[in-house]
Amino acid sequence: MKESFVIKNADHVPGLYFPLVSETGLKSCVTPNLGGDAKLDQNHFLLEPRSIEDLRNNRSTRNFWLDWGEDTWSITGVSAWNEALWDRCDETMEVETGILWHKVTRRNPSMGVEGEILSFVPYDQNYEVHQITIRNTKETAETMRFYTAIPMYGRSADNLRDHRHVTSLLNRMEVTPYGIHNTPTLSFDERGHQPGDSVYYVEAVSAEGELPQDACGVLEDFVGNSTLLRPEAIFSGRDDIWQKSGSHVDGQEVIGALRFHPVEISPGEEKSYIVVIGIAPQEATIASLRPLWDSAAAVEAALEATITHWSNLAPIRIHTGDPDFDFFFMWVGFQPELRRLFGCSFLPHHDYGRGGRGWRDLWQDCLALLIMHPQQVRELLIANFAGVREDGTNATIIGDGLGNFKADRNGISRVWMDHALWPWMTMQLYIAQTGDEEILLEEQGYFESEKRGTILEHLILQNTAAYHNRGEHHMLRLLDADWNDALDMASQRGESVAFSNAYAANLISLGEAVQHLATTHPDAGVDASQGTSLIAMGRSLQQEIRSTQWLKEGFYNSYYDNDGQPLTDGNMMLTGQVFAIMGGTATEEQLDSITQKADELLYDEACGGYRLNTDFHEVKLNMGRQFGFAYGEKENGAVFSHMAVMYANALYQRGRKAAGFKALDALYRQSMNFEVSHIYPGIPEYFGRGGRGLYHYLTGAASWYLLTVVQQMFGVKASYGQLQVEPQLLEQQFDSDGKAWIRLPWQGKMTLITVTREGTATITEEL
Ligand code: G1P
Repeated sequence: MKESFVIKNADHVPGLYFPLVSETGLKSCVTPNLGGDAKLDQNHFLLEPRSIEDLRNNRSTRNFWLDWGEDTWSITGVSAWNEALWDRCDETMEVETGILWHKVTRRNPSMGVEGEILSFVPYDQNYEVHQITIRNTKETAETMRFYTAIPMYGRSADNLRDHRHVTSLLNRMEVTPYGIHNTPTLSFDERGHQPGDSVYYVEAVSAEGELPQDACGVLEDFVGNSTLLRPEAIFSGRDDIWQKSGSHVDGQEVIGALRFHPVEISPGEEKSYIVVIGIAPQEATIASLRPLWDSAAAVEAALEATITHWSNLAPIRIHTGDPDFDFFFMWVGFQPELRRLFGCSFLPHHDYGRGGRGWRDLWQDCLALLIMHPQQVRELLIANFAGVREDGTNATIIGDGLGNFKADRNGISRVWMDHALWPWMTMQLYIAQTGDEEILLEEQGYFESEKRGTILEHLILQNTAAYHNRGEHHMLRLLDADWNDALDMASQRGESVAFSNAYAANLISLGEAVQHLATTHPDAGVDASQGTSLIAMGRSLQQEIRSTQWLKEGFYNSYYDNDGQPLTDGNMMLTGQVFAIMGGTATEEQLDSITQKADELLYDEACGGYRLNTDFHEVKLNMGRQFGFAYGEKENGAVFSHMAVMYANALYQRGRKAAGFKALDALYRQSMNFEVSHIYPGIPEYFGRGGRGLYHYLTGAASWYLLTVVQQMFGVKASYGQLQVEPQLLEQQFDSDGKAWIRLPWQGKMTLITVTREGTATITEEL
């Protein structure tokens, strides 16, 4: 299977970005021109924070320049020359991406030069490595000189607007033999005034081990009376701007500008330079890490180790009749790892939050972990229950480390009515995969309380507390929102029929688990009759929804607004249908009607499939900010991948494989249609105007897509630790030999499951 993806002239696509990240905290992103940023957390940005619009506008990028005979050339294509001539010159470029590396190749036939920049973050380090290779494509030898020019922000994201200048006065820049180091004396951020705890640095060597000739660490000096697109330090030929190792300047904006000795390069010859940019706790760390990157061999070894590390973490592969789908799926399978590392912040669209994830995301991301590394999840799951409060609600902010929760962001307390749902959904999968139902008997504390109880008690409390919190139509109250964060203005009278369905299903399956546990562990003090009452609660709620919420239009009502009115008038919302189908509220006849109506009212082939809702043509202040968004964007009727995937999952669960496939297939085709989606392979949070993919990479949709392909499409499920294979592949998904396979970990071993068109399944354990 192919492992990488190539896009020609990707720098003509604004808003394209690629993540690079390490296990030790560095979170970077790069654009085709090497824009983007790099940070450890909110308070340690190595490069200036970037939102999506900055990618188009900001010229403060990682830049590499070349004196090339009489010419001066930006190897990243960020120069006044490129801006003036980009559509009138013969310069071309392409980007190739793999897990997790990024390679740009830029060719300028008129100048007779090519540059290649390979970028990655070693999986276990807090620095980026860029290996730049220059090729002479002329017939004659040329004199060249290589420069780096990387503005170093080196402070908290808060200082982008707040004390941008004053914080530059804290900088202490030093030129060292390898490059520029900046050690700010203090950090002014949300934590108050903290002593500086980091060194921000840019270092470089040639592949032969040659050190920079000199450096310019002051941004103002480097730029002179010009801009970063035509910096004086490079274009004026003035030597006095460049400083030798040992010099230092205090209190200025810093740039990692390094200059190498001019060298001659023969026709066809290549020259390479290695540049790193990073954050270290102290000077000594920087020196100790140098052997890991300061030669071509070291870079090659680090890259190989990095590729191996990430491939092992996301090892699930499939083979179907469509190799592009298999490739897309490899990327989707990797996205949950990206969300584990980035949280829901820190990529250019995700310019909110201060890192970390919310409660819902924490539990849903566990779904993917459970499929990929079930043995590692037990401790994590138990720890997560420490966030449940005695009243069944929960802490909403996840701190660092296991089981470390914070009550609320900025002290604003908010209750999302769906939060109590996800723990049992995840736990159910854990028990199915491992057979470890004893986990329910483990004890855990309650958030901000002395009280302790079993995990089972936590779960029963969560689900029954939600069940009893009813509104005037007897549906579960919406409170401050449900899964749809943007339904946030109906906390008094709003009701979520959608999630009433979901809780009903939870109560039934939780009740069944209680009965099972009481049978297998008769001495554990589990009351089997409690299982029966949970099941009865779930069934009665389903019955109530069936008899009161089915609309004459032929689908279910999803919500009541803050005036106690149903969200109907011909409008359809996908969420209410998904959970009615998934949980079993919808009858078979209703299912026929819902799928027909969804195709009629919500399906948009050109935008990735099923939209989240029809256009209400109204800013519903009695429902939520969703209705302030333009129609077709985000939660207001975009094709919102997470819910579209859950729709597919629900359909497969009810045996509607063709309909389920249709929803997944539309998302895949849209994502991989680069001309329209403008994203690298993977699934974005949603498809907006013109079918463009937005908020790429960090989305719960990826976990659910993975889960749906494994458990529904390939039908690899388990019940109390026993593997079951019940594929729901369609004719066209088999290869020309009538086969399809999935390779995934099962009870500690990589396992290959091959399915034939005739319906046989062969399970082979790999050694
Ligand atoms: C995002 C949030 C998720 C929320 C959803 C709908 O979805 O992360 O918690 O439920 O919006 O408001 P995601 O980006 O995970 O697809």
